[in-house]
Amino acid sequence: MSLELNKIAGAVLMSGMVAMAAGFIARALVHPVPLAENVYKVAGVPAAGTKDTKGGPAAIEPIAPLLAAAKAEEGEKKVKACAACHTFDKGGANRVGPNLWNTIGEKKAGHSGFAYSKQMVEKGGEWTYEELNQFLANPKAFVPGTKMAFAGLSKPQDRADVIAYMRGRADSPKPLP
Ligand code: HEC
Repeated sequence: MSLELNKIAGAVLMSGMVAMAAGFIARALVHPVPLAENVYKVAGVPAAGTKDTKGGPAAIEPIAPLLAAAKAEEGEKKVKACAACHTFDKGGANRVGPNLWNTIGEKKAGHSGFAYSKQMVEKGGEWTYEELNQFLANPKAFVPGTKMAFAGLSKPQDRADVIAYMRGRADSPKPLP
């Protein structure tokens, strides 16, 4: 009786070991290479391994509905991500990026004494709430070639809070959209 059990246990053990050994050998023979890009391309999803976001997801949530409840105090904490390059106070210095007092509703590339990229100058027009939202979500997608080396704020709530804070950093805050 116990001899039968031993045989069964032995067989189970053995088949497990064979399966393991087969796995090791298979891996030694075949070297899996990670895909350079997705084989199945899904519209709107950037291919793996590509940094270029051109033609990538363009659907950025509109900011207006979030702005009503956005908190400037929260934004003030979140602009720590910008502080290495920007000042937000009136008359503040230009750093790696321009001072950002009076930005919303004002001309793009409009802060004096800062050497903007050609691309930012050529973008033209004023910074609307919605354009600022697009720019902060993905600076390089909104202004291809911009000098702003910042990946972007992916969370709509973060952008809304930052924009609410920036709105208050002005001589006369522009009406909410
Ligand atoms: C690594 C440095 C860096 C960081 C971090 C950074 N920026 Fe910038 N920013 C720049 C530079 C440089 C420019 C000028 C871009 C150009 O000329 O193409 C710029 C431009 C801008 C402009 C356009 C200003 C104008 O006068 O038209 C806005 C708005 C802006 N940044 C907001 C932000 C906010 C908000 C953050 C944080 C969430 C941020 N930036 C983070 C470097 C930075």
